[in-house]
Amino acid sequence: MDKIVVEGGVPLRGSVDVSGAKNAALPIIAATLLAEGDHAVRNVPDLADVRTLGRLLGHMGCQVERGAIDRRALGIRVPAAVSPEAPYELVKTMRASVVVLGPLVARWGRARVSLPGGCAIGARPIDQHLKGLAALGAELRLEHGYVHASVPRGRLRGAVFTFDGQTVTGTENVMMAAALAEGESVLRNCAREPEVRDLADALQAMGARIEGAGTDEIWVEGVERLRPIEHTVIPDRIEAGTFLVAGALPGGDVTVRGVVAAHQEGLIEKLRAIGATVSETGGGLRVVGDGRPRPVDVRTAPYPGFPTDMQAQMMVLLCLAEGSSKITETVFENRFMHVQELQRLGADIAVDGKVALVKGVPALSGAPVMASDLRASAALVLAGLAAQGTTEVLRVYHLDRGYERIEEKLAPLGARIRRVKA
Ligand code: EPZ
Repeated sequence: MDKIVVEGGVPLRGSVDVSGAKNAALPIIAATLLAEGDHAVRNVPDLADVRTLGRLLGHMGCQVERGAIDRRALGIRVPAAVSPEAPYELVKTMRASVVVLGPLVARWGRARVSLPGGCAIGARPIDQHLKGLAALGAELRLEHGYVHASVPRGRLRGAVFTFDGQTVTGTENVMMAAALAEGESVLRNCAREPEVRDLADALQAMGARIEGAGTDEIWVEGVERLRPIEHTVIPDRIEAGTFLVAGALPGGDVTVRGVVAAHQEGLIEKLRAIGATVSETGGGLRVVGDGRPRPVDVRTAPYPGFPTDMQAQMMVLLCLAEGSSKITETVFENRFMHVQELQRLGADIAVDGKVALVKGVPALSGAPVMASDLRASAALVLAGLAAQGTTEVLRVYHLDRGYERIEEKLAPLGARIRRVKA
């Protein structure tokens, strides 16, 4: 098992490119199940989660290959018949596999998909996914850890459905199912994340009739058949955000290339509030971290609010602030696992339920720390970059799920970082 070793205290300088978005690529790859034939999905990051989904589609009878020339492209061949099953062995390693449920039910009228199970950051039920599919006429029963889905009438039927709470993959699952349902659907209280919008763009390229994606009300008119995808995935706003925070660390000056500035409004507002300078440059965003950050309060919320997937990284910056900040995590009930590890680096943080009170300290000091989930591990790498001395981040398999060899992207910025066998 690998670990990441960081010699901290060196401000980052230079430019870094953003990869394709993991959280757009995953549902778009799942959407290929909606149409027989050869699909091409471009700008797909080479991540553990993408490989897991590829294996899952392979298990169903599809062929998934990375382009020989364009290593960022995935060629996916979906046969006339697939086995509509997602086994626990694969789903347990990546809960986002649940996004195959909507396409399988819509296209094949049946599916057997393992329930995702527990997660470090929260309970993360899928009740809204199931309620939405049931509204379209699916019959669903939970048995032996699996969702068994069927469509008695043979084809889903359009419906008006309101999500009880905004859910990203829930919106994606139901929108994909509605694309092949008979008649119109109106989905309300939808998630508005750019990844949902990107999936809708990919579905429209397949011939789907969808309007309103990116807003909280999505209209879908189902069609009989869809054609293979030809789509380029949007840049990863969370990977980009992680690099923007790296540049906002004291003394930093980093340009993140390929980022969509409009997707970063919540983060940019907070980076400016702590005193960093953020400016648009040719095809990217430049961030300059002045001295110690100013304290600022942060409250996570569904898009376009401050992203929960940037909460841990932002906490690192506030650990070094001149004063106290309050971070309120409203999306997941257990997303402060990184706090104890940051305390090992000398941070002063007190957690009370959904609120973390971060008292800034002049400096952090390096130590061995343990990653607990994907974004927590990115925060520990950032903290190691800011800390004096050596930090070792263990369990980096969490990191590899969502960051493409992060050490190779940070090293050219001057980071003293390497991956070693633990
Ligand atoms: C997506 O997860 C992302 N994953 C997550 O990113 C991200 O943190 C999350 O959205 C929120 O932005 C992917 O897109 C693959 P939700 P998702 O359903 O769809 C509750 C990362 O780091 N809920 O929007 O699973 C749920 O428990 C990952 O890349 C229900 O109660 O999140 C949570 O509290 C981590 N019932 C809230 O809604 C449901 O049926 C939002 O979850 C569904 C969700």
